Formats: sequence, structure tokens, C-alpha cells
Amino acid sequence: MSDDRVALVTGASRGIGAAIAERFAADGWSLTISSRGREALERRAGELSELGARHVEVIPADMTDADAVADLAAGHAEAFGRCDALVINAGMGQKGAIAELPVRRFDRLYQVNVRAPYILLQSLLPTLRATAGSNGVAKVIAVASITGVYPEPELSAYGSTKAALISLCETFNLEESLNGVSATTIAPGYVDTDMSEWLKDQVPGAEMITVGDVATIAHSVTQLSRFAVLPNVILTRPGSNLHRA
Ligand SMILES: NC(=O)c1ccc[n+]([C@@H]2O[C@H](COP(=O)([O-])OP(=O)(O)OC[C@H]3O[C@@H](n4cnc5c(N)ncnc54)[C@H](OP(=O)(O)O)[C@@H]3O)[C@@H](O)[C@H]2O)c1
Repeated sequence: MSDDRVALVTGASRGIGAAIAERFAADGWSLTISSRGREALERRAGELSELGARHVEVIPADMTDADAVADLAAGHAEAFGRCDALVINAGMGQKGAIAELPVRRFDRLYQVNVRAPYILLQSLLPTLRATAGSNGVAKVIAVASITGVYPEPELSAYGSTKAALISLCETFNLEESLNGVSATTIAPGYVDTDMSEWLKDQVPGAEMITVGDVATIAHSVTQLSRFAVLPNVILTRPGSNLHRA
């Protein structure tokens, strides 16, 4: 199936972002992929082209660097002039009780998980609006976390960044959805990636949500019309705890 749509995916070098980029590539989308290391991205670009992506731009950017994030948005807009899906996925975790977690770590989490998404939303808004036009659609998909909805001990900083991301996207919808641009946050429990490695002696990776599960939700969001706004999707794991990470 061929497609003339275009996405920007952050955190596309591995994990959830790589899976979302693969799903779009298989539909023939063009892509800008970003994360910190150029080498991993170049390898990924080759794989995405083989899967069916029409064109892949590689733009490395460290999400702690506000100027680099703005340059990423500008680079994408210059390369393609449109954005059908902005996938805000790059993120970092940090565990630590409020009694102990140093403020500099808290600040870094906010730079990557909240400030960078804000800069991307703001910088790409003209391109998203232009892509939606008067009767089309453009979607923002932001990967939050179940801890942004149901807090857990020792995840106050991380969970609060994800709660902020969900709130940011809700407000974005209030301001922009009548323009055909709307955001969906995906709030998964543990997903089998490098980020959840620390936990795998307690919860085996094979029992976690798969990156393919998250990619399926992201892909589905891109099938929605401008008249359907999907605010937040919570993905929990099987078991008797409804709010299970
Ligand atoms: N895994 C889970 O259990 C889980 C659950 C809920 C939500 N999430 C969320 O899902 C998203 C993706 O996580 P994942 O599980 O796929 O993790 P992952 O496998 O560790 O991948 C993280 C991605 O983000 C990029 N990244 C990290 N720090 C960055 C920075 N400072 N600047 C630019 N890129 C950066 C990484 O690229 P480089 O290192 O190559 O730069 C990588 O591509 C995150 O927002 C995370 O919070 C994960």
C-alpha cells in the first residue's frame, strides 16, 4: 500500500519509537527519525527504506538541548513541508524517592519528557495546521506512561513528567482540534524495551506489553478523521490490578 504521508518520530533508534517508525514505513510513509546518535539512526533509516518508507531524513538531536529540538522541527519542516503525524516518543526514566532524588535529575527529566515535547508542539504547529488544511487532518501521538495516570512510589519525578505531558496534550486539543490537529497520549504499563531492563528479574520481558502493541495504537490514531479526538489510551497488563504498570 502506498502512502504520501509524512511523520516525525523522536526516540526512533530503538524500542517503542523504532516499532512505530517501522509500522509507518510499512505503509509507505516518509519519515524524519531522531535520537542522539547518528550511527544508530543511519542504520535504522536503511531498515525503514527496505520496509517501504519512501524517504527517510536522519536528524540527530539531544532532547536536553532546547536549540537542537527547535532545529529538529525546522529541519523536518524544511525537508518535507508537511507533518501528518508528530510522534513525541523520546523519553527517559528515573527512579528515586522524593526523599532522595537529586533536583538536577528531576530537571533533566523535565527537559527531555516535558520541555522538548512543548518545543516540538510549538515549533511544528504551523506545519501541522497547514497539513490539516481546511478539511484534512494531522495527529500528534505522545508516548506518556501509566505512571502519569496512576502514581507509583519512587516514580514521582518520572510520573509527574508524564502527567504533565498528558495535560499538555489535552490543552493542545482544546486549542487546536478545531483546526484538524489533535493529540493522543498513549500511557502504557511496562513495555519490553531497554528502559524496563532494570525490572526484568521481577517481570520477565515476555510478560510485558510489546512494542508492537504500542505501535498498533499509534498507527490506529493515524487512521482517525479530523472529527475524532482521542485524548489518552491507557495500556495495562493482565491481572487483578486494574492500574497495573
Ligand atoms: N519501556 C517501558 O516500560 C515504558 C513504559 C511506559 C512509557 N514508556 C515511554 O516510552 C517512550 C520510549 O521508551 P522505550 O521504552 O522505547 O525506551 P528505550 O528503548 O530506552 O528508547 C528510548 C529512545 O529515546 C531516545 N532518547 C533517550 N534520551 C534521549 C535524549 N536525551 N535525547 C534524544 N533522544 C533520547 C533513545 O535514543 P538514543 O539513546 O539513541 O539517543 C531511544 O531512541 C519513553 O517516553 C518512555 O518514557 C516506556
